[in-house]
Amino acid sequence: MRNLLIVTGALTGALLMASLAFAQAPAGQSGGNSLFQQNCAFCHGRDAGGGETGPDLTRSKVVAEDVNGDKIGPIVRNGIADKGMPKFALPENDIAALVAFIHEAKTKAEAQKGGRRGVDASDLLTGNAEAGKQYFNGGGGCAACHSPTGDLAGISKRLHGLSLEERLLYPRNPPATVTVTLPTGESIQGKLLHRDEFTVALRDASGRYRSWFTDKVKYKVDAPAEAHVDLLAKYSDADIHNLMAYLGTL
Ligand code: HEC
Ligand code: HEC
Repeated sequence: MRNLLIVTGALTGALLMASLAFAQAPAGQSGGNSLFQQNCAFCHGRDAGGGETGPDLTRSKVVAEDVNGDKIGPIVRNGIADKGMPKFALPENDIAALVAFIHEAKTKAEAQKGGRRGVDASDLLTGNAEAGKQYFNGGGGCAACHSPTGDLAGISKRLHGLSLEERLLYPRNPPATVTVTLPTGESIQGKLLHRDEFTVALRDASGRYRSWFTDKVKYKVDAPAEAHVDLLAKYSDADIHNLMAYLGTL
């Protein structure tokens, strides 16, 4: 009787673990893969093995030292200003899925070695400029903020190929303003300098740096370029290639 109980207990435990593993696999692994392809692969390569501008994450010291996202998480949330690593405002679950994907990619890379893939420059030559123009003015909603004869005039002379694509996908240090409302009702507006879970900081009209704990004030950020982050989830590869072809004519 006693033996039987132990066996049943072990069996239940094994079943429970099996069902947990089953429940977690799709959310963690495949979710992390598509998030990575959407947000990170352009720079770090599809398999995290390094791309045009981002380092190989499978050989990164940061990744090697990371435990459950304690090193990777802050980098993804805060970015590395001026080094070309953008910051991403992603929910915790998504960051956890990305972290799992990166660790898995590291394990795979160590097992196989070699064979990295980034963005192929020839991919950039396959677009259709007319379709890109239609997407710009229509489905892409780009015309709401940009003009081919205004801010984007001559962009193909300033930026080419992969640097243009990178700027299109991840505008660099785009301007953002923030309005902070204090408990007293006073409100202060300025250039957004920093924002994370805990603090928000701005430079006000007189040039003064000011910061607050986010749980002590209300604040509203106006960052038009963040539209680009939402666009990452919308573009198909063809949309991007067509847009690149169209931008190349400006
Ligand atoms: C626009 C290009 C770009 C994108 C997109 C990008 N990164 Fe990066 N990332 C970089 C660059 C460049 C660095 C190196 C910064 C430096 O030199 O310190 C970096 C560094 C990192 C590092 C630190 C590596 C190390 O060893 O120091 C991690 C981790 C990382 N990125 C993860 C991600 C994740 C996850 C995503 C997607 C959510 C992402 N990155 C998207 C360009 C990018
Ligand atoms: C809600 C407004 C908004 C939308 C929609 C938008 N953008 Fe942007 N975009 C911005 C802002 C703001 C910047 C940063 C400009 C700066 O740095 O001065 C930017 C930057 C860019 C840049 C880099 C320009 C440069 O000189 O570095 C390109 C290219 C670009 N956007 C193309 C597009 C395309 C193509 C679309 C549509 C698929 C689009 N944008 C949709 C606001 C927007």
